[in-house]
Amino acid sequence: MLPHVPGLLGLPRDYLNAQLGAWRTGKRRAHAPDCMADIAKRLQPQDIEALASWLAAQAVPAGSAAAPSNAPRGVQDAAVGCGTAKAPQRP
Ligand code: HEM
Repeated sequence: MLPHVPGLLGLPRDYLNAQLGAWRTGKRRAHAPDCMADIAKRLQPQDIEALASWLAAQAVPAGSAAAPSNAPRGVQDAAVGCGTAKAPQRP
């Protein structure tokens, strides 16, 4: 989702595993509030393995493009803050 939430399809399983594991242990960090650290710390190693395996097995849809920043309310209203992807203000 624009501007800063990355797509996860097309990434290799080992890379996904490594990133989520690194957030869990504090080796990878993003600007505060570090939403992915919050998310990764809620995942057990077997959850990370399952996510990485499932994501890596999905085909990247033809013509996929980033969603506009005002699209999915679910993500913007998530109970986690992302320092690198602040949600726009809503009335
Ligand atoms: C179980 C759910 C999620 C999983 C498995 C997941 C996984 C990932 C992974 C693997 C990356 C690294 C991508 C890369 O290095 O190319 C990433 C980055 C990111 N994700 Fe998530 N994510 C989840 C939920 C969310 C949610 C709900 C949000 C927003 C509220 C979010 C926002 C971000 C942002 C902003 C980054 C970039 C962080 C940076 O600046 O390095 N993610 N996510």
